[in-house]
Amino acid sequence: MSKLPKDAGPQTLAVHAGEAPDEITGASSPSIVMSTTFTTKDAEAFSIKDFDESDMPYIYTRWGNPTVNQLQDKLRVLEGAESCLAFASGMAATSALLLGYLSPGDHLIVSDVQYAGSAELVRHTLPRFGIEVTPVDTSDVKHVETAIRDNTRLIFIESPINPIIRLADVEAIAEICKAHDVRLAVDSTFASPVVSRPIELGADFVIHSLTKYIGGHGDALGGALLGPGDVLMQLNEEALIHYGGVISPFNAWLIMRGIATLPLRMQAHSASAMQVAEFLESHPAVKRVNYPGLQSHPQHDIALRQMSGFSGMLSFQVEDGPAIAARMIDGLRIIHYAVSLGHHRSLIYWIGTDQIMESSYRLEGEQLAGFREYAGDGVMRLSVGLEDAADLCGDLDRVLS
Ligand SMILES: Cc1ncc(COP(=O)(O)O)c(C=O)c1O
Repeated sequence: MSKLPKDAGPQTLAVHAGEAPDEITGASSPSIVMSTTFTTKDAEAFSIKDFDESDMPYIYTRWGNPTVNQLQDKLRVLEGAESCLAFASGMAATSALLLGYLSPGDHLIVSDVQYAGSAELVRHTLPRFGIEVTPVDTSDVKHVETAIRDNTRLIFIESPINPIIRLADVEAIAEICKAHDVRLAVDSTFASPVVSRPIELGADFVIHSLTKYIGGHGDALGGALLGPGDVLMQLNEEALIHYGGVISPFNAWLIMRGIATLPLRMQAHSASAMQVAEFLESHPAVKRVNYPGLQSHPQHDIALRQMSGFSGMLSFQVEDGPAIAARMIDGLRIIHYAVSLGHHRSLIYWIGTDQIMESSYRLEGEQLAGFREYAGDGVMRLSVGLEDAADLCGDLDRVLS
C-alpha cells in the first residue's frame, strides 16, 4: 500500500489499496488468515488492555485479524476516511455506532424512511436505553435544523434512501451539523464510495452494508463503519470486541475480491440502470420512476452535485403492485424476485407503503406528503445488475404488459 503513488486513481486503489505481496511467500493475491488465535510471547496477559499492539499485532481474531485489517485499510482509502472498522453485517456496523456512540439522555435525529432494520433499531431499541429519537424528512434541510435540540448528538441519514430513492443534501446537512456541534452519519450503502463520498461532503461517519455493492456478488455478509480515528478506536473496544459482531476473515477476503472491480461494476450498474429507468418511465403500466439520474427525479440537481454516476438502484410505482409482484415470481426469467441489492444479478421486490410505514416513522402534514410522493401505494425496488440492459427491459416488459 505504501508504495502506491499518492495520486493513484480509484480503480488502482480498488485493486491495490490495503494489499501487498506476501512478505514470506511472495504470493501476489492476499492469503486468508482463518486462525482464531495467534501464539503469544507474553505468559500472563489476558485482556486486550494488557497487550502492546506494536509488539504483538494479533492475539485473537475478535480483537484483530490480518485479513480483516486488509479489508479495513482498503475501505478506509476508498472512502477517504481516517479509520475503518469492519463488522459481521451492515446492521452490526449501524448498531455499533448507535449503541456505542450514544448514551442515555442523548438525542438522535433520523430520516423518516430508512432501511427497515435501521428504522426498527432506532424506534424500538434506542428508546429502551434512554436515547430520544426524532424522525424528519431529511430531503428538506429546514426540517433537520428545526429538530436539533441542546442534547442532539448525532444525525443519521441515508442517501439514496431504501426503498424510495429519495436523496439528502449531505453537504447542506453537514454544514448545519457543524454549526450546532452535532455529528453526521450517512448510510451510503445504495451509493458505494464510487458514487458518493459523504466524508468529502462534510459527514463525520459513513456506514456501509458490505453485503451489497461493495462485496457485489451476493455471497458474503459484512458491514463497515468509517470515521475519525479517535472515536473508532473507542468503538473498537466496546462495540466490536465486546459486542462481538466481527466479520469472518473468509467474508473479508471475498469482499476484498469484490472491491477490486467495484469502480467498473458501478459504472456498468449506473449505465444499465439509466437505460432501464428510461424504459420504465416510458412504459404505460408504470406510474412513476424514482431514479436520481432521471431529470424527472425531484432532486436530480443534488444527484448531479453529489453523485458520480447514479448507482443501480431505482424504484417504480405501478397500478396494482401486489398482483404484478405475484406475476413476477414465476414470470421473470432473468431478474430474481428477492430482497437485497447491489449484486451482479438483478433483484426486484415489492414493498407496500403500509410496510414502509410499519417499520419507519409516521410523519404528518407536509413531511408525510413528501414521503407519499415517492412511495405512492408502494414501490417495486429494483437493483439493476450486470446483465444486458435490453434483456432486463424485456424481462420487465413480460410481466408489466
Ligand atoms: C441501506 C442499508 N443499510 C443497512 C443494511 C443492513 O445491511 P446487512 O444486511 O448487511 O446487515 C441494509 C440491508 O438491506 C440496507 O439496505
